[in-house]
Amino acid sequence: MQVSATFLALDTLKTQCLIIPAFSSSSKGDAFKHIDQKSKGALSKAAKKIKNIAEPNTCSLLTDINISAQRVLVVGLGKASDLNAKKYAAGIANAIKAAKAAGATEVSIACGEDVSFIKEAVISASETNYVFDDCKSTKSLAKPLAKLRFVMSERKNVKAATKAADQGLAIANGMTLAKTLGNLPGNICTPTYLADAASDLARGKRKLKTTILNEAQMKKLGMGSLLSVSRGSRQPAKLIVMEYKGGKASQKPIALVGKGLTFDAGGISIKPGAGMDEMKYDMCGAASVFGAMQACVELELPINVVGVIPSSENLPDGDANKPGDIVTSMSGQTIEILNTDAEGRLILCDALTYTERFEPAAVIDIATLTGACIVALGDQASGLMANDDKLADELLEAGQSSGDRAWRLPIWDEYQSQLDSNFADMANIGGPKAGSITAACFLARYTKKFKWAHLDIAGTAWKQGAAKGATGRPVPLLMEFLMKRARVI
Ligand code: BES
Ligand code: MN
Ligand code: ZN
Repeated sequence: MQVSATFLALDTLKTQCLIIPAFSSSSKGDAFKHIDQKSKGALSKAAKKIKNIAEPNTCSLLTDINISAQRVLVVGLGKASDLNAKKYAAGIANAIKAAKAAGATEVSIACGEDVSFIKEAVISASETNYVFDDCKSTKSLAKPLAKLRFVMSERKNVKAATKAADQGLAIANGMTLAKTLGNLPGNICTPTYLADAASDLARGKRKLKTTILNEAQMKKLGMGSLLSVSRGSRQPAKLIVMEYKGGKASQKPIALVGKGLTFDAGGISIKPGAGMDEMKYDMCGAASVFGAMQACVELELPINVVGVIPSSENLPDGDANKPGDIVTSMSGQTIEILNTDAEGRLILCDALTYTERFEPAAVIDIATLTGACIVALGDQASGLMANDDKLADELLEAGQSSGDRAWRLPIWDEYQSQLDSNFADMANIGGPKAGSITAACFLARYTKKFKWAHLDIAGTAWKQGAAKGATGRPVPLLMEFLMKRARVI
């Protein structure tokens, strides 16, 4: 999909489909009024017939209107004062679906002077284009939207609109990459596949470098916790490191650490069978790091970012971790594995210790870490836990303004005793209470040397049921955060 912004009189615009917002006010808004005048009242005539024309979820296709556009789609957005990014994006998604159903592959949106929701509109448009048919023998015949144009009523707003559209497109492309990696099955998307994908992403890109550590290299570093998880799998573990250098060499990087469990059967503490296929999504944290790194490259963001992805499978096997096993992490701390299904923290702790070498300005780990997070927050918000209030606030704000929300949970010291072990420095589980918090408390023991935040995306990374599929979250949140840090928004 291509995106652009222009300044043109709406009625002279040659386009397959012109999307005009309608607000619930007497004039219905400037674009509506303008086209209504130019079409000798065709829109107000339609508004009389279509009672809810300005209401959200109403999308009206008008064809015989005498202007340069082939079709006009009037999309209801409700009260202008109540409009927000989410409502706008939903309206645009409906309109674009309707435009595509009518055969349009190129669409223009009348924006007036407003550039505020352009980013969201691009993301919405890209989502309507997304199909995952890599594993189907017959491919989708649906024609994607190829061109999306934002029409501004003032020349001076074109530059800001173009910038927002480009940012939206980079985020959307990052989400597409994250979704596709997430949707790929565990027999295709293995740790080696992810490592190859990271090498491919860096190929030919001057500012991005990928390094892959194999099991022998991890062993030398003392990553006994990470390697204990992959011992139960025939697929070798990988530690994927992606370094994006868009900022000054002296600038400390932001580190993104993504859980890359390409399939989580639970190990010897095996999971129940129902719905176990969904554990192919246990690498969605890693996928969001891929998406964010790609978006940084696309936007040439003036910032340094390092992505670290521990990747492994978690399967039952004669050589797999057993409940009661004790392993030594790269930090030197020992761990009693009381449940082999709490494997995410076992691979993340060594990846976090490894991240120290980059002297990061801040570290954010992203992980489908606990079922308890779905119980607490459902699929609306990712769980956020942090050892630094300022970093936590920045991430909450980035989630709020991108519509990809997070909600903070505490990690008070008082919770730490739930991880006490009789035989090692800590246990890998903290009992039935506050499961998301004790998982984060475990990670907190490996993140004392830097500012750190943890995003538990177990509830937000994919959808279940008929619309089963990866969501691309939290790429929008991460990019909002990175773009603010890079001062480009
Ligand atoms: N990958 C799972 C967490 C998960 C479960 C994400 C369901 C999304 C949906 C993780 O590795 C896990 O198994 N966690 C256990 C931890 C428990 C053993 C302390 C869980 O949440 O049950
Ligand atoms: Mn597990
Ligand atoms: Zn897992």
